[in-house]
Amino acid sequence: MRQLAKLVLLTITSSVLTKAWSAPQVPGFFIFGDSLVDNGNNNGILTLARANYYPYGIDFKQGSTGRFTNGLTTVDFLARLLGFRHFIPPYATAQRSEVLRGLNFASGASGIREETGNNLGQHYHFAEQVEHFGDAVRYITRMFRGNTTRVHDHLRKCMYLVGMGSNDYLNNYFMPSMYPTSYDYSPKTYASLLIQDYSRQLTQLYDLGARKIAIVGIGQIGCIPYELARMDDDDRQGGRRCNGRINKAISMYNACLYRMVRRFNRELPGAKFVYVDTFKSSNDLVNNAASYGFSVIDRGCCGVGRNNGQITCLPLQQPCEDRTKYLFWDAFHPTEAANLIYARKAYYSNSSSDVYPMNLKQLAMA
Ligand SMILES: *[C@@H]1O[C@H](CO)[C@@H](O)[C@H](O)[C@H]1NC(C)=O
Ligand SMILES: *[C@@H]1O[C@H](CO)[C@@H](O)[C@H](O)[C@H]1NC(C)=O
Repeated sequence: MRQLAKLVLLTITSSVLTKAWSAPQVPGFFIFGDSLVDNGNNNGILTLARANYYPYGIDFKQGSTGRFTNGLTTVDFLARLLGFRHFIPPYATAQRSEVLRGLNFASGASGIREETGNNLGQHYHFAEQVEHFGDAVRYITRMFRGNTTRVHDHLRKCMYLVGMGSNDYLNNYFMPSMYPTSYDYSPKTYASLLIQDYSRQLTQLYDLGARKIAIVGIGQIGCIPYELARMDDDDRQGGRRCNGRINKAISMYNACLYRMVRRFNRELPGAKFVYVDTFKSSNDLVNNAASYGFSVIDRGCCGVGRNNGQITCLPLQQPCEDRTKYLFWDAFHPTEAANLIYARKAYYSNSSSDVYPMNLKQLAMA
């Protein structure tokens, strides 16, 4: 039954990806987030969180663009599923004429908290990404000759995707040598502080005109090669080899995030927030790894040391041969093959353990 459902899903997807292009389902697609969806915004700034070098992009015809994977990211696939002929351009280098059809503001190492990721250098944290969107809205307003009715009409039809938070754990809370947060707060308090900040920032996005907003939860970062390479035996989780302490903290955060989405849908007029549950979706990828074609789920395809996760993929390093068999591309990021599955789930799934209260296909039409 499961196999059949997957086969149907695959068939639908390939027909969508190959059919003659029709108009996109939404006029624009705006993206906010961290390295999971960044497509080059960090290329020109001083940071170690950068991926514009080989072998990043090894399977992408445009090469090493700054995407933190071997090929396409989930938002590249989502842009296709939404009917866009092109990938959404990075804010840092986009042409002004492109602004109506969407921009990607995401920045590797960024988080909800301002200090998050500072250990890696510069980046644009979420509040700055929202400011950049504010600049884009002002630009659109000028294009529409100050007709704010028309501006709001355009913005409310667009799709927004926000995927933040992983770095608030990876490059903050669970990096006690650099950040005091885990001494100052329990995991529960930290989660609710993050959600307080996030709620405020997302309300600004709403106030600027966004209505169809997909919020991506944090995945099981206790299971990424970077954490597996650093794990103490005390932190081992049940059967699967993951850092249970980290996953537990993430679960608390995701539970708050889910409640925030429900509250926004009740309280903000016209808002349609969707919660994308990558944490639960990744269970399916791991439990049914073989049926998805994965044979390696605990090692990066490119990297150094234990689990290829002690040091992440270095410039000119030789990656693994068959990228479609690996769940992880490097110490932190999924392969293109995994990104495609995450994107399909977000777009097509009817299961509330993937998307709540609707999938992104429905959100586009809502
Ligand atoms: C603003 O745009 C709307 C529709 O997009 C149009 O109906 C309206 O006439 C415009 N207002 C002005 C003042 O041009
Ligand atoms: C989800 O439900 C819709 C409408 O009932 C259906 O057309 C679609 O095929 C379903 N998607 C999946 C992945 O089962």
